[in-house]
Amino acid sequence: MKNSDWIARGEAVFAGTYSRFPAAIVRGEGCRLWDADGKEYLDFLSGIAVCSLGHCHPVVTEAICKQAQKLLHVSNLFYTEPQTELAELLTTHSFADRVFMCNSGAEANEAAIKLARIYSGEGRYEVISLTGSFHGRTLATVAATGQPKFHKGFEPLPAGFVHAEFGEPQELERLINAKTCAVLCEPLQGESGVRPLPADYLLELRKICDQHGLLLIFDEVQTGVGRTGSLFAYEQTGVIPDIMTLAKALANGLPIGAMLTRTEIAAAFTPGTHASTFGGNPVAAAAGVAVLKTMLTEHFFTDLGKRSSYFVKQLQELAQQFPQLCTGVRGRGMLLGLVLTEQGIALGMEIVRRMFERGLLINFAGMQALRFIPPLTVSREDIDTVIKGLREVLAEIG
Ligand SMILES: Cc1ncc(COP(=O)(O)O)c(C=O)c1O
Repeated sequence: MKNSDWIARGEAVFAGTYSRFPAAIVRGEGCRLWDADGKEYLDFLSGIAVCSLGHCHPVVTEAICKQAQKLLHVSNLFYTEPQTELAELLTTHSFADRVFMCNSGAEANEAAIKLARIYSGEGRYEVISLTGSFHGRTLATVAATGQPKFHKGFEPLPAGFVHAEFGEPQELERLINAKTCAVLCEPLQGESGVRPLPADYLLELRKICDQHGLLLIFDEVQTGVGRTGSLFAYEQTGVIPDIMTLAKALANGLPIGAMLTRTEIAAAFTPGTHASTFGGNPVAAAAGVAVLKTMLTEHFFTDLGKRSSYFVKQLQELAQQFPQLCTGVRGRGMLLGLVLTEQGIALGMEIVRRMFERGLLINFAGMQALRFIPPLTVSREDIDTVIKGLREVLAEIG
């Protein structure tokens, strides 16, 4: 079976929710993928910031195989060893001391929104999120998402969500009223074009939440679990949230999500208030334990920091070389964006397509920036290969 066969079969049966690259991926190892025609790709997408230790990392694969031979699923009517161990690791290495596990980023945010409402009490249900944010595709998380294009066609959306202009604390404060229960934001907006929230703005948000008795929720679904160069992005901001959500990289490719908070807030959830059949299932949780233990080994983040600085420097040089197409570089760790000019934006999709033809996988985020989210373990040589390919593409196209 070739790519063309899989594409024809898929097109005949899938709902039309995705516009996909014309390739059927059959195998992955480290930073590389192979398609059904045998073509090799250098993967600077990592399954959209999921396979952060690289594809089929041997420690994660071993943990999955071992657990799959012992116990696949038992429901949350019981305690299990991997789920407990994962929750212990998450709480030991974060501000939080309680964890609720689910299966995806949207579910983790749903849990956070429900917790903020039930904790805050009757009549306090409104969540303020930011323009440009992305929080998921369920109805509540779409409503929280501050980008009208995701709302279109799905109205009426659930009530209780308002949006404040990114980076404008006074405007956010003006939106607070007796119904407000929480502020929800990503420390760095990934989907809308790799936009870090300025440090002073985040400090201001913390202050505003404290003054008005609101919960501060950080959506670290994309930034968390090592992506920005520390285990969680909040560690680099000097701001500690009340609730944090995780998913994507937590099990390096198996579906998992988690909502973390402090004991006194978590106490608002009692048996029956929230649940998930599969949440924190033993195999995904065992993979999560392997991921965290690997990331917590000595030098993991110092090495990552060095390679990130190297990558940023290469991207900055590219931006200088092609000022008609690029304005600069944004992001942290291995969540980096090459921000495009108006001319560059018009060519964004074509740049991604030409990179794909060369076997180099990147994407165009938020119609603003070329986004680079390789495995955190990516080598300088692989960074050089992507930079070289991109330089050729920009030269061709510009
Ligand atoms: C910041 C953020 N929150 C939430 C989500 C939704 O996660 P999921 O697709 O796992 O539901 C995403 C996905 O891209 C995300 O980037």
